[in-house]
Amino acid sequence: MMENLTKEKSLTSIIDTSSEFQFNGVKSTASDMKIRMETKNLTVMYGKSTGIKDVSIPIYDNKVTALIGPSGCGKTTFLRALNRMHDMTRIAKVTGEVLLDNKNIYDEDVNPVIIRRKIGMVFQKPTPFPTMSIYDNVVAGLKLVGIRKKSLLQDVCEKALTQAALFDEVKDRLNDSGVSLSGGQQQRLSIARALAVEPEVLLMDEPTSSLDPQATTRIEELIHTLKNDVTIIIITHNMQQAARVSDKTAFFYVGDLVEMGDTRNIFTKPKEKKTEEYLTGRFG
Ligand SMILES: Nc1ncnc2c1ncn2[C@@H]1O[C@H](COP(=O)(O)OP(=O)(O)OP(=O)(O)O)[C@@H](O)[C@H]1O
Ligand SMILES: [Mg+2]
Repeated sequence: MMENLTKEKSLTSIIDTSSEFQFNGVKSTASDMKIRMETKNLTVMYGKSTGIKDVSIPIYDNKVTALIGPSGCGKTTFLRALNRMHDMTRIAKVTGEVLLDNKNIYDEDVNPVIIRRKIGMVFQKPTPFPTMSIYDNVVAGLKLVGIRKKSLLQDVCEKALTQAALFDEVKDRLNDSGVSLSGGQQQRLSIARALAVEPEVLLMDEPTSSLDPQATTRIEELIHTLKNDVTIIIITHNMQQAARVSDKTAFFYVGDLVEMGDTRNIFTKPKEKKTEEYLTGRFG
């Protein structure tokens, strides 16, 4: 008992020392928790080496789930398995299940292209299409599915760029090349492109690691707004960010899921010693 109290106190004091450290404040109750996605014994192998092993977690609808853990522990590997991105990597082998609305997205009758439209992704590094203008980058996904109406494309483009906190900076140069933007702007362009197709689930791999504090705040605000419509899973190395934006947190360590729970509980009274050690900066 005494030991537990001491443990809690030391974690709380670490968190409280940062004035920025605020919890998202959303109280979740059993009744407002609907499972949107679920992984069951999800394992990804790269040849003989393990990316993640046996990860089984629920992803709740209209909630933000943060994935945290030291570098190389499998966060990106896990995220990419959620929309079949490993299909493109020959060496990667995925086993187990990823359910979206109770249907395994790895079933033979599932079209991965449709899955990736429903489950969008923002990568750690910006990924504008180099030969396309800013405008065409944003609407690329819509054009791909045959939408041609100019007024609609223009509306979607403006909305997505505004959501991604980029519109004001690029509104007079929409025909310039996507790669003429700065790194941070390119990242927001990639976010706008992902949003333009209105995904149901959005996977974000360290989306703000190349952004300045102002753009980071705008993206965190966007995440707050978006979660009314979209289920979000975000990888971050910034613990303050995880605490600010997420409802649930999953902690990964060398390919294993160590624990997952309400963000507040993970940060103030983690069940596992490894989680506490990571959060208090003892490794990672
Ligand atoms: N394409 C690949 N081929 C072989 N091994 C890979 C590949 N991608 C990742 N790995 C390995 O899988 C393990 C997990 O990597 P992953 O990129 O998922 O980590 P991460 O938690 O996202 O790290 P970071 O925080 O640095 O982004 C690492 O050991 C990595 O070397
Ligand atoms: Mg990663």
